[in-house]
Amino acid sequence: MTESTVSAWAGPVLGDIVVSEATIAQRVAEMGAEIAAHYAGRTPLLIGVLKGAVVFMSDLARAINGPLEMDFMAVSSYGQATSTSGIVRIIKDLDTDIAGRDVIIVEDIIDSGLTLRYLYDYLLSRHPASLEICAMVHKIGIQRAEIPARWIGVSVEPAFLVGYGLDVAGRFRQLPNIHVVNEEHL
Ligand code: IMP
Ligand code: MG
Repeated sequence: MTESTVSAWAGPVLGDIVVSEATIAQRVAEMGAEIAAHYAGRTPLLIGVLKGAVVFMSDLARAINGPLEMDFMAVSSYGQATSTSGIVRIIKDLDTDIAGRDVIIVEDIIDSGLTLRYLYDYLLSRHPASLEICAMVHKIGIQRAEIPARWIGVSVEPAFLVGYGLDVAGRFRQLPNIHVVNEEHL
């Protein structure tokens, strides 16, 4: 998928690339190696937050050269809007009992941080042996809750982003690069 073939169908909503496919690939490889080393001799459980984390999760898992398991949760905080409501609803809960497990929450992006904060506390209440956060993107300086993220792919200036799992109204998740949205064209 090249930039020109994407712009042929994406339309004016899709703005400039802010995190390239190459940067993503490099950071995913680095974080995968760090995670494999951190959990040597253990089998971490990666919990992906649907739907945004699906693309990152599948790349990250394949960058972890060691045993692991995967599960998914679905939460809803935004509806169709592009700013947070602060209200988190669990749409799909875990299939796995995480008591005594080494759990890593895998998330696409930390924006207000309210979703992750809620999930972190919720999962902590189920008594994992350890609980860490791995997020691909972190928006600088706008968190409304403290997020103890051990692994962060990239930190970027706040803007509404799409691609690499991130969507606007369900679109653009499959793009290999992360772009800004031209909100005036929404
Ligand atoms: P929070 O504000 O950190 O709670 O973000 C909650 C969720 O909103 C994230 O997991 C994403 O799914 C979504 N989100 C936040 N910022 C963006 C963005 O820039 N583009 C697309 N989705 C976003
Ligand atoms: Mg998400």
